[in-house]
Amino acid sequence: MFEMDLVNVLIIVVLIIVTSIWYASYRQRNAFNYWKKRNVPHIEPKIPYGNLEGVGEKFHVVYMIKSLYDKFKCTGVKYFGIYQWRPIAIILDLDLAKDILIKDFANFTDRGLYSNRKYDPLSANLTTMDGDEWKRLRSKLTPAFSSGKLKFMFPTVTRIADRLCDVLNEKITISNKSVDIIDFMMRYTSDVIGNCAFGIECNSLNNRNAEFITMGRLAIKEQRHSPRFLALITSYKRIANILGIKSIRDDVAAFFMHAIQETVEYREKNEIQRNDFMDIMLDFKNKKNTNNNEALTFNEIAAQTNVFFQAGFETSSTTLTNCLYELAKNLDVQNNARNVIRIAYEKYDNQFTYEMMMDLPYIHQIVQETLRKYPISATVNRIAKNDYCVAGTDQVIERNTWIKVPVFGIHHDPEYYPNPEKFDPHRFDSEEVKKRHSMAYLPFGEGPRGCIGARIALMQIYTALVTLLHNFEFLISSDSVDSITFHPKQALLSPKEKVYLKLRPLKSITCK
Ligand code: HEM
Repeated sequence: MFEMDLVNVLIIVVLIIVTSIWYASYRQRNAFNYWKKRNVPHIEPKIPYGNLEGVGEKFHVVYMIKSLYDKFKCTGVKYFGIYQWRPIAIILDLDLAKDILIKDFANFTDRGLYSNRKYDPLSANLTTMDGDEWKRLRSKLTPAFSSGKLKFMFPTVTRIADRLCDVLNEKITISNKSVDIIDFMMRYTSDVIGNCAFGIECNSLNNRNAEFITMGRLAIKEQRHSPRFLALITSYKRIANILGIKSIRDDVAAFFMHAIQETVEYREKNEIQRNDFMDIMLDFKNKKNTNNNEALTFNEIAAQTNVFFQAGFETSSTTLTNCLYELAKNLDVQNNARNVIRIAYEKYDNQFTYEMMMDLPYIHQIVQETLRKYPISATVNRIAKNDYCVAGTDQVIERNTWIKVPVFGIHHDPEYYPNPEKFDPHRFDSEEVKKRHSMAYLPFGEGPRGCIGARIALMQIYTALVTLLHNFEFLISSDSVDSITFHPKQALLSPKEKVYLKLRPLKSITCK
């Protein structure tokens, strides 16, 4: 009798499993007909990955999107479809991109990233939040990035840039070998963001194994999930949430939670006021400047603090690395930049001030051209809240459709940037910029959901660049890569190989 029951149970379990697999594959097949049914140009997907075959293993997703961008761009369509587990619309038309990101933003406020507030509180941050919750937090945090706050931070940033210069000088004095640039740039940006945003001395420049930089590197270089699995849980957020799937590594989460808690407790106990980002967060926690029900919880503060650290240190250090690499390959641009910096030092009585930093258009253009060629984020992502009629067509982007504006494809489109692989800062001369569509340059996204940290990012990049070019010459060496390609396993566009450059100290070394 007992044996019969067991057999029945086993049969039922097997039936449930088989039916579930059949149903999942039926749903997936149905989902993979989405673009065909709507007559939207696309390439045929394969079960189960859609168009993600090889992505995150052999190559970065940006290469797949770029090749489809080139394929469909010449057909004149406004957008085409791909499948990353679910259907996604890739926007080709820049007017449509502008409508989505700016004019009709109210219908495209959400980004749809995965977070799990209960089991993974650090994941519920400004980048992953959507709807009214995002709106409320964004308006609270915006004052922390005002130009007044930036000016206040500037002396700290220059102090850390000088330290970077000292550390590099020590390094090349001890050994004549070429330098792993990204390592130094990460240590610099980790110290800047740690210091300016949270008043934490991360000490990464003095100690390459300092915990902040170690954990920061781990969070980015050895993420908890592969890009393909991340795309899966993002596509099926509700199920992933029920299953309690986390996106941040446990060791990284525990370290940052603890560090932030210590800082909060220390400041509150010793009544320390530093007028920085952490102060603004603490005001919200303690309900100053807010309605009572608007206060932020400790977890909310910790999540924002953590995302600012992560977003702030990797993006800018990668940009600095890409920039120095291009300057080493294009010595004429590097020499022009150094001349411009020398003249500026003379004009500003040999003092590197905030005003001098803002008065260096050629340096700004070099950074713009770096972010054009290497935009960090391959796409800007949104979700349609309601059905959306595409202007000038009879097409409708349906409610809940995922949308990507292909930043890398646009930045490498010869229609907007002739000879796109050429590094040419003159593309950003003001007359040239005026000739281009405003959406042809999107390194920080655009509209109300654009990067909140763009100005602090640029400040730390300009400051390092000016200080470094004033003191060193950067040269390609025998161990430098021929070109920068992107790491397949990382979400952002960061170099797959280490970037080694040779540094030659200049007579004018002033950093100490
Ligand atoms: C070169 C450096 C940087 C680049 C290229 C960059 C790029 C971006 C991009 C493309 C987005 C998405 C924008 C959109 O969807 O329209 C973004 C969002 C964001 N960035 Fe940055 N970023 C940089 C530095 C920073 C820094 C220094 C911080 C903070 C200190 C920061 C914090 C954020 C946050 C919190 C968001 C989400 C904003 C929201 O959803 O409201 N980023 N960034």
